[in-house]
Amino acid sequence: MKVSVFGGGGFVGSHLVEYLISKNYKVMAVDLNIEKIPENCRLNNNFTFIKMDLCKNNDKLEDIIKDSDVVFNLIAYAIPSLYIEKPLDVVDLNFFKNLEIVKQCHKQNKWLIQFSSCEVYGLLGGRNGIFSEESSLLILGPVNKNRWIYSCAKQLLERVIFAYGEHEDLTYTIIRPFNFIGPKMDFIVKSRAEGIPRVFANFMSSLLYKEPMYLVDKGKNKRTFIYIKDAVDALGVIIKNKKVFQNKIVNIGNPENEISIKNLAYLMRKIYKKNIPDEITPEIISIPGEKYYGNGYQDSERRIPTVDKLNSVGWMPKKNLKETFTISMDYYIKKRINKEL
Ligand code: UGA
Repeated sequence: MKVSVFGGGGFVGSHLVEYLISKNYKVMAVDLNIEKIPENCRLNNNFTFIKMDLCKNNDKLEDIIKDSDVVFNLIAYAIPSLYIEKPLDVVDLNFFKNLEIVKQCHKQNKWLIQFSSCEVYGLLGGRNGIFSEESSLLILGPVNKNRWIYSCAKQLLERVIFAYGEHEDLTYTIIRPFNFIGPKMDFIVKSRAEGIPRVFANFMSSLLYKEPMYLVDKGKNKRTFIYIKDAVDALGVIIKNKKVFQNKIVNIGNPENEISIKNLAYLMRKIYKKNIPDEITPEIISIPGEKYYGNGYQDSERRIPTVDKLNSVGWMPKKNLKETFTISMDYYIKKRINKEL
């Protein structure tokens, strides 16, 4: 089976490519950068890398999709600081450019596995924070809060895909990821001036470079985190069970792994200290969201996925919260000990 992975050079994409290669799929990774894809994959005969910037041109899109049996699309800006800094770029890439991939999959009758986001569930923690694909309300903040422009763009893309499925026979699966965590996530920054990656990469950066760990709005909001390899296993289950997952929306997350961001800061600091006892660890400081990210920031309170669809085919996440962060941090801690960071 030939699988194209748009965004195959990113955090989730590179782990997915590694998984697919290990299962002997033929993989075409489409991205700007190849660095996150491991060397052994790059050298594998089943692997092809296609350098493409969807923002600049889509010349190769038709041929790549023609040559694929399954199309994963992970191309997106998915970092909240960007929703505030570059809202128009977010809509352009996450909706308009992504729509070109949807249309090609429809035209060429290919199974599209489209990454959306848990962010479509919006602002409120729902009923006990638990979100289900078919029944939860999707509630966003006001238009002057740009935080929600990403969620809105993702939601519109989902609605267009759903309508293509109903009216035009598109075969699709929509994935809603809930905070995947692991090595190579986002980017490491030496100071806030270099940008604000998502919380795991940002706290990791603070630990490595002795910068304060900032708790947005006292770190009261909660997230459920899932280890990247558990998440990628779920994608593997989906690709093997087309009949079960076609034309479905699927949450991927670990409902057992909920933690407040405040407790996460203390947990990561503790893990770091245990591994490198000689280094000082940074202070933890609270900061208002709009001061940290800029005007237009708001936050999701809580989000816990229902994962019944995946459970029904035998998938269960394996790593608990402490294991998830210990393994993910270990990647950076080893680099630090080897003086690569
Ligand atoms: C982001 C994206 O918007 C989602 O689309 C995506 O699905 C999700 O990440 C993901 O990783 O799956 P969010 O969870 O809000 O959503 O992203 P983070 O930037 O990691 O923020 C998590 C929480 O930590 C937020 O409450 C944020 O305010 C807080 N935070 C973040 C801090 O307290 N300090 C920081 O330095 C960074």
